[in-house]
Amino acid sequence: MGEKVQKIAVIPGDGTGPEVIREGLKVLGAVSKKYNFKYETKIFDFGGERYLKTGKTLDDSDIEELKKYSAIYLGAIGHPQVKPGILETGILLKLRFSLDQYINLRPVKLYNANFCPLKDKKPEDIDFIVVRENSEGLYKGMGEFQDKGTKDEVAIQISYNTRKGVERCLRYAFEYCRKRNRKKKLTLCGKTNVLTYAWDLWQRTFNEVAKEYPDITTDYAHVDATTMWFVKNPEWFDVIVTDNMFGDIITDLGAMIQGGMGIAAGGNINPQGVSMFEPIGGSAPKYTGKNVINPLAAICALGMMLENSGEIKAGKAVEDAVIKIVQTKLKSLAAGKMGYTTTEVGDLVVANI
Ligand code: IPM
Ligand code: MN
Repeated sequence: MGEKVQKIAVIPGDGTGPEVIREGLKVLGAVSKKYNFKYETKIFDFGGERYLKTGKTLDDSDIEELKKYSAIYLGAIGHPQVKPGILETGILLKLRFSLDQYINLRPVKLYNANFCPLKDKKPEDIDFIVVRENSEGLYKGMGEFQDKGTKDEVAIQISYNTRKGVERCLRYAFEYCRKRNRKKKLTLCGKTNVLTYAWDLWQRTFNEVAKEYPDITTDYAHVDATTMWFVKNPEWFDVIVTDNMFGDIITDLGAMIQGGMGIAAGGNINPQGVSMFEPIGGSAPKYTGKNVINPLAAICALGMMLENSGEIKAGKAVEDAVIKIVQTKLKSLAAGKMGYTTTEVGDLVVANI
């Protein structure tokens, strides 16, 4: 990379989003100097406040504008005065779908055993990554009401899975597992025993693609059992691939075993297009404006963004600095309990770059 200027679209968004993004940009400034790469940022005001003022979520022209960037750095979307669903579908899911960010990548990595709610689990026991399909399944929004409002009402919500959509996700997961080069084990997390259409397609495609990756050990776990193993034997996992809904659920549990939402980051990846990186914790309205929220999830998301755009060393440096302060400085990863303010945690990361 080096000479190529990274053009980053920044969407601080709602609640504590702007506070954590501010710290992330501070770290970006420091790491770009150290590793000598150039970048530009442009701030976009998409979010709840703008929606309340203008009634707008995200227009198609906004999407076209965002396509001009190398990556998107997102804080949080969600506003207490806006009815649930409007901003989520109108902004977050619209971004993911319109930019065809078909992979949601969520590392689950414990940096300090003291912050793990599981007894006797150490950092080496919790180090896996979830590859969540991010464009289909139950999130597709397909379905209908029948006889709405009557006592015979039926609500139908369809899980939509295409061979192409499933296959591209599985291929990404196999490739990722190979590149990661750890246990080289890929676990398909599904529900073949009940959801016999969707998971039949997933399982068949998984088995077929697996033939092209003889170096990868494959495994299967039902989603309910997966949540059990996350608690009992998280060390069994290396890379997990699953659909949109199951991925949403298991990665919240994953965030808890790695120390909480304060540290959990994710990337919405379009390998051929514009990807978007975000802390996964949401807008945390009750902590807004207090300078107490943990910015590390946003800073880890920044690290993922750098790695994804080819600034591997810079991304690694960000992660290493986070590990350092999580192991030596922070009292807790929870908002208000870190022993430092949001700003101070950002400063500590910068000091360790
Ligand atoms: C997440 C969030 C979103 C999702 C919501 C806010 C739409 O929970 O990123 O996991 O369900 O994907
Ligand atoms: Mn979620």
